Amino acid sequence: MKLFVTGGAGFIGSQFIRDWVKRFPQDQIINFDKLTYAGNLANLASVEFNNSYSFIRGDIRDSDALLEAIPHGADAVVHFAAESHVDRSIHGAAEFVSTNALGTQVLLDASRHRKVARFMHISTDEVGGSMNSEEWLKEDSPLKPRSPYAASKTAAEHLVRAAGETFGTDFVVTRTSNNYGPFQFPEKLLPLAICNAMENKPIPVYGDGMQVRDWIHVEDNCRALIATLRDGRAGQTYHIGGGFPRPNRYVLESILALLGRPKSLLAPTKDRLGHDRRYAVNFDKIARELNWRPLISFQDGLRQTIRWYQENQDWVKAVRSCQYLNYYKEQYGESLASAKAA
Ligand code: NAD
Ligand code: TYD
Repeated sequence: MKLFVTGGAGFIGSQFIRDWVKRFPQDQIINFDKLTYAGNLANLASVEFNNSYSFIRGDIRDSDALLEAIPHGADAVVHFAAESHVDRSIHGAAEFVSTNALGTQVLLDASRHRKVARFMHISTDEVGGSMNSEEWLKEDSPLKPRSPYAASKTAAEHLVRAAGETFGTDFVVTRTSNNYGPFQFPEKLLPLAICNAMENKPIPVYGDGMQVRDWIHVEDNCRALIATLRDGRAGQTYHIGGGFPRPNRYVLESILALLGRPKSLLAPTKDRLGHDRRYAVNFDKIARELNWRPLISFQDGLRQTIRWYQENQDWVKAVRSCQYLNYYKEQYGESLASAKAA
């Protein structure tokens, strides 16, 4: 197969590429990524010199660049590229609308012109909005996004479905719950908490810390994405969940216990604006149709993830000190320092 992956230098996209190369070494993968503050080529060091893998730096809003980069008749576009952090979307929603909504449309158009066989759109359980304690988001539940991030991802989903209806684009949409695992940028809760705890720094707990997220290990997610791309039915949406919804405090206390750090590191702070109380996805459909279920228990996955951050201090230090942005500056002759500062 020939795959065109967007956002493959980020957390989930890089795991997807590493896994795909391992499982299907004869396939060709092009990784098209803008390398924002969240994109890091160090995440792909293990496949960098593989003949089946290549990297192109570009922006999904740049139609000409896409038309040049997407191979005619490619088997699939796998669309990860996005602005992905809710807190950033609260401070500046416009970039989220631009990348996540407009960027998806530009990519859909270019994929159609290049006669790509399948468009896989990576979405999120956050499009369903906040669930009450009894609710589980189903594939056909109404979409009720509540943050600018979730709203921009909802717009993107609608545009993908509109392309399916209007032009007959073969697409699949996946909605995953909160991922965790190696190589996650330490602005999201889990890696932030692990990195801060390792350095005995306080961990910000928004509000009462009783908001619920359904944690899934990124390897389980990528196994589901691979199954969906290969065998998912055209025009369908598939939920991918960890089956482990827990309050943030539970997660944070588990991290502190595994690292042998005191609970006094938990630092209650002002709540996030419009903070969604609970996400929970029903993933019966993918279990039934594609025989997928998560295999990594939260305790095992968390232990493995903590170990990875302990053993990869250089990666953490580089990311936290923006060293890799300087590296890109040298590599590509362009300053990305302002992107990080923003
Ligand atoms: P990430 O922020 O780690 O990576 C995003 C990648 O997209 C980066 O490599 C970045 O450089 C690239 N990018 C951003 N804007 C771009 C542009 N205009 N053109 C080209 N590349 C661009 O994100 P992630 O956590 O790996 O998430 C990947 C996808 O999965 C996103 O679409 C996100 O909405 C979705 N998702 C994430 C989670 C999660 O828990 N992380 C859960 C559900 C869904
Ligand atoms: P996050 O990792 O940003 O993912 P999302 O908001 O997309 O679910 O946050 C996960 C949960 O942790 C969410 O309820 C917000 C909370 N949170 C904190 O309490 N403190 C923090 O410093 C961060 C980043 C998040």
